[in-house]
Amino acid sequence: MRVLGIESTAHTFGASVIDLAKEREGEKAILSDEKSAFSTEEGGMVPGEVADHHVEAFDRVIRDALAKAGVRLRDVDLVAYSKSPGLGHTLRVGAMAARSIALLANRPLVGVNHCIAHLEIARLVTDAKDPVLLYASGANTQIIAYEAGRYRIFGETLDMGAGNFLDQFARALGLGFPGGPRIDALAKEGDEKGFIELPYTVKGMDVSFGGLLTRLKHLIREGKRRREDLCYSVQETVFAMLLEVSERAMAHCDKDELVLGGGVACNGRLQEMAKAMCAERGARIFIPARPLLADNAAMIAYLGGVMHRAGISDSVRTAGIAPYERTDDVAVTWR
Ligand code: ATP
Ligand code: FE2
Repeated sequence: MRVLGIESTAHTFGASVIDLAKEREGEKAILSDEKSAFSTEEGGMVPGEVADHHVEAFDRVIRDALAKAGVRLRDVDLVAYSKSPGLGHTLRVGAMAARSIALLANRPLVGVNHCIAHLEIARLVTDAKDPVLLYASGANTQIIAYEAGRYRIFGETLDMGAGNFLDQFARALGLGFPGGPRIDALAKEGDEKGFIELPYTVKGMDVSFGGLLTRLKHLIREGKRRREDLCYSVQETVFAMLLEVSERAMAHCDKDELVLGGGVACNGRLQEMAKAMCAERGARIFIPARPLLADNAAMIAYLGGVMHRAGISDSVRTAGIAPYERTDDVAVTWR
């Protein structure tokens, strides 16, 4: 079964073709994975502007995905699209594209949850069987694992996503957008000697970044600290928070696999700390390749294919979007 997947939850518009028949070959099942990301110098995201970008980019990205995969539209058996969670404006563009294609090609379609797709793609491209997912992206930060018929959220951010926090901190430092990679680079020039004690906010199984951001803005205004030391200390503090909650979720669910997902998981120091935590507990860690960590359509195509194989289908008429759907709202009937 060949699946065309479409991703449009936030600033990335993506299209991918996967061949479910090659599932056993892991990454080779991904025949193409194309994307175009909206960007601005200032870093703000106005939903309408991002949607305009997607409207402008969608035909080219989808054409490229089909061409790279070497398939024509009529070779596609199923259309999958991200229906949740995300920005209503941008989700609508992806859903419209998916519905139009399904209508024209007379193919079934299925809408999928973006957060769950981040976990499922790891089951395609790594040896992970039943992992806990630390999903840290711009808008989302959740610790997710499968239990009793649902993907449950064991911990999450109470305010902003880890990536948005890093981006706001970077903006306050004058580093530009996206902030994560620039903080990552500066942090390498800092070290323990310059470590600054910062608010460490873990409440039960949840994390929050608001207080930390306020403290950082204050420190930046004071101007007494080196940027390298601030970046180093921020990374050590925030990643320790994320991994403390991940580790507790692994212990609670009695799972011995950890998967990373989301753009923040591209961070080398986070990966290093996650590997150390897993080694200490005798657990295995799986980190998909960079393009699959960030927002991508391959994970949407794959999850759509797996869901459809289990009998799930939407009709062109009813296929909609659900910007606020939560990970644990979805009944998982495909596992
Ligand atoms: P979502 O998936 O929540 O809709 P998104 O579109 O922002 O959000 P991603 O592309 O997964 O998702 O992630 C982008 C975020 O990842 C940005 O906030 C960026 O700063 C952060 N990021 C990217 N690279 C790194 C890095 N090396 N270190 C830390 N953060 C990073
Ligand atoms: Fe994402």
